[in-house]
Amino acid sequence: MTRLLTRKDALNESRLEAAQEPAGAAAGEVLLRLDRFALTTNNITYAAFGEAMQYWQFFPTGQAGWGQMPVWGFADVVASGVPGIEAGERFYGYFPIASHVRMQPERVTPRGFYDASAHRRTLTSAYNQYTRVSQDAAYRRELEDYQMLYRPLFLTSFMLADFLADNGFFGATRLLFSSASSKTAYGTAFCLRGQAGLALHALTSPRHRGFVAGLGCYGAVSDYAALESIDTATPTLYVDFSGDEALRERVHRHLGDALVYDCFAGSAQNTGFLREAALPGPAPAFFFAPVQIRKRNADWGPEEVNRRFHAAQQQFIDHAREPAHGWLTLVREQGFAAARERIASLAEGRAEPREGYVVRLGG
Ligand SMILES: NC(=O)c1ccc[n+]([C@@H]2O[C@H](COP(=O)([O-])OP(=O)(O)OC[C@H]3O[C@@H](n4cnc5c(N)ncnc54)[C@H](OP(=O)(O)O)[C@@H]3O)[C@@H](O)[C@H]2O)c1
Repeated sequence: MTRLLTRKDALNESRLEAAQEPAGAAAGEVLLRLDRFALTTNNITYAAFGEAMQYWQFFPTGQAGWGQMPVWGFADVVASGVPGIEAGERFYGYFPIASHVRMQPERVTPRGFYDASAHRRTLTSAYNQYTRVSQDAAYRRELEDYQMLYRPLFLTSFMLADFLADNGFFGATRLLFSSASSKTAYGTAFCLRGQAGLALHALTSPRHRGFVAGLGCYGAVSDYAALESIDTATPTLYVDFSGDEALRERVHRHLGDALVYDCFAGSAQNTGFLREAALPGPAPAFFFAPVQIRKRNADWGPEEVNRRFHAAQQQFIDHAREPAHGWLTLVREQGFAAARERIASLAEGRAEPREGYVVRLGG
């Protein structure tokens, strides 16, 4: 088994480790081989919030100071000691960057299973769930790269858009997005485009401004430096994907009473978790998609939640992968060494928003 370990206090540093593992699976266990996975800033945030949000605990390394960064991807069963799961079956889900991983499936159904390994039992169950691709209505083999890149992000986009609409946008008639070039941010804007009486205003870095304007899902785009020229008469909801504390302070001070809600949705530019600060206006409220999923499962039932999500996701992926729209160029890479370099470049903010990075470990 080969695995990639990330230094918890320097996320751009990683190392490879190889170990001998028995090839089979004991009763109650499956052995999976990771075939491919995607890398975006979200994976860096999993690591950055590894302690605060327990993300390091999904795949413990047993080595102080080193963790396994979680990724979304596809893996094949190489050995199974679990009735209802066969060698050769393929699953989508949340994996460590490792050639192989052992799991202890529970609640095995045609849809998939939950990993009930002891160290995962108390962690957020949405991440413990593995989907059997042969039973997944939304799955298409030729779209795997798009699915693993966008699905975990678009789930947040979709649920965030729903949460904001569900709350009447807290009285806002304008949403102001930071790190508007991120996939999760523009996915949210995509879900809310055309919403009557709601303006979508993007904030981004100067070098990403052209890309954001070209997306066509925001009505206005400003550089971070131009924040203070935005009007202060419109009730505004801040959708923060950057996590930048200095920017947050500027947003609060500039908008004053016009700021009706501050939604902390991401931390693309900050490896620290949300800290208390004496700011004028509403306190930042953390958005965590699994909370809204639970609410909608209770309101609509899980089948209807899935149906709505899959319909929206299909529209989004079809739009994003259309070359004429200029949203996405898939960058396909091979092997652990490529993953190491890609993680370093993402952690250092050198990634291009137009690019989507997918890594293949299998042959
Ligand atoms: N709350 C949730 O449940 C949830 C779920 C999914 C994702 N998220 C969060 O949403 C954020 C975006 O994730 P993503 O995967 O969608 O991102 P992505 O597509 O990889 O976004 C890239 C953009 O993020 C900004 N950025 C990234 N790294 C940076 C750095 N080191 N320095 C400065 N800017 C940097 C830049 O945007 P600008 O130039 O426009 O600033 C860049 O274009 C992450 O923090 C992620 O964790 C949250």
